[in-house]
Amino acid sequence: MKIIPYALTYDDVLIVPRRSSFSSRSEANTKTRLTKKININIPIISANMDTVTEAEMAISLARLGGIGIIHRFMSIEENAEMIRRVKRAQSFIIENPYTIDPDKTVNEAKKYAEEVGVTGLIVANEDKKLQGILSRRDFIFANDNSDTLKVRDIMTPREKLITSHAHTTFEEAQKIFANHKIEKLPLVDKEDRIIGLITVDDIKNIIEYPLANLDAEGQLIVGGAVGVHGDFLERAKALIQAGADVIVIDIAHGHSDHMIEAIKKIREISSEIQIIAGNIATAQAAKDLCEAGADALKVGVGPGTTCITRLVTGCGVPQLTAVMECAKIAKKYNVPIIADGGIQKSGDIVKAIGAGADTVMLGGALAGTEESPGVVMRRGDKKFKVCRGSASFSVTLKRKNINLEKKDLNEVVPEGVESLVPYKGPIIDLISQFIGGLKSGMSYTNSYTIAELQKNTEFVRITNAGAKESGPHDINVIN
Ligand code: XMP
Repeated sequence: MKIIPYALTYDDVLIVPRRSSFSSRSEANTKTRLTKKININIPIISANMDTVTEAEMAISLARLGGIGIIHRFMSIEENAEMIRRVKRAQSFIIENPYTIDPDKTVNEAKKYAEEVGVTGLIVANEDKKLQGILSRRDFIFANDNSDTLKVRDIMTPREKLITSHAHTTFEEAQKIFANHKIEKLPLVDKEDRIIGLITVDDIKNIIEYPLANLDAEGQLIVGGAVGVHGDFLERAKALIQAGADVIVIDIAHGHSDHMIEAIKKIREISSEIQIIAGNIATAQAAKDLCEAGADALKVGVGPGTTCITRLVTGCGVPQLTAVMECAKIAKKYNVPIIADGGIQKSGDIVKAIGAGADTVMLGGALAGTEESPGVVMRRGDKKFKVCRGSASFSVTLKRKNINLEKKDLNEVVPEGVESLVPYKGPIIDLISQFIGGLKSGMSYTNSYTIAELQKNTEFVRITNAGAKESGPHDINVIN
């Protein structure tokens, strides 16, 4: 006879409070491990879903201390360009800034600036010697005769520019910007050749977002997702070349021979790239993927907001148990765990980490925000955005290129749904609530670090009555 083990999820348990020496929850440090080699400042990852993470989400979340994983439901070129957009969003020193020749017309300069996505250009001649700067303001005022005017006619000329040297520090740059009220600081060598650029916006971002996760060049970190079939290797190559810090190999059933092969093939392309593999839900899967070379594991089969995998296939493991099982094994291999799916409340993040996760991935919770892809729709006085599962009907049609008229639609068996979620505004508000809740949870368990929270957490199972008691009850909630 088969023995059926018991499995639990977040709402089945609570964490037992411990004696705490905290005087304020701000003493909690949320820095954690994303992969074997990458740390992030808050344990939040945005899901690689087409209604959750494109460049805008990845930029905002990396600035707040997390990381975004760009989805893969687009062409390889578009996908790589999106990674490049995140990488270009900020850096301390821009190496090889875009330049324009002083003898080009203003119209040509305007076109070029639009093409490369910048608002101003450094003016330099053929041997890269600095001639001037063309700013957004110059373009506006030259509007009427942009066809005839030359760049040199409207630029701020070299003799009026403040410049600095290659080894300019952050503090030096800050002082120069403050003293001279300029917006761009070109860096030049002894021959006055342009070798870099610092912008006031980049300095502002560095000050404004102290938790931002930056790579060695001071650019925001970002991940890209691939599958295990078709052009996945080509896509992985393009994303790595575009600057992705992490590749997430993401398939619904990650404990598979295809996944193990894919990890090895991507590792052959790059020995340095960090590989996250998933999704899995068992100890054996964790062992197999750790041994195949994964740098982090994504855990969750069926817990997601938009998932119907468990209904369609009968397969899955309640998420708290899945995370605990995988974490037990992954710890032995020093591989971090991502708890992916089913997180709605900040308490769920505390529980996921208490169960052994190092980070959590959010889909539905971040859908509907300002930074999520898609338009804001209005129904009456309410605003909404679309949130859809990666295995939903429409995403599957898009991914498999199925023509509605020609092919038999019975070929599509969705394992995800499509929905409208309320418009939630910018993610900073949500993330502040999530991290505030996490830090409070850390103080209840006397955990100053994520590692301590993993160690200190003691769960109790609760009944339906306990669950009812845990929310507001027996009152009329007005807010
Ligand atoms: P949440 O609960 O944060 O979960 O929305 C996000 C995760 O859900 C997974 N996902 C799916 N799972 N069918 C599934 O079974 C789907 O269509 C689907 N779309 C997303 C995915 O792991 C994501 O990170």
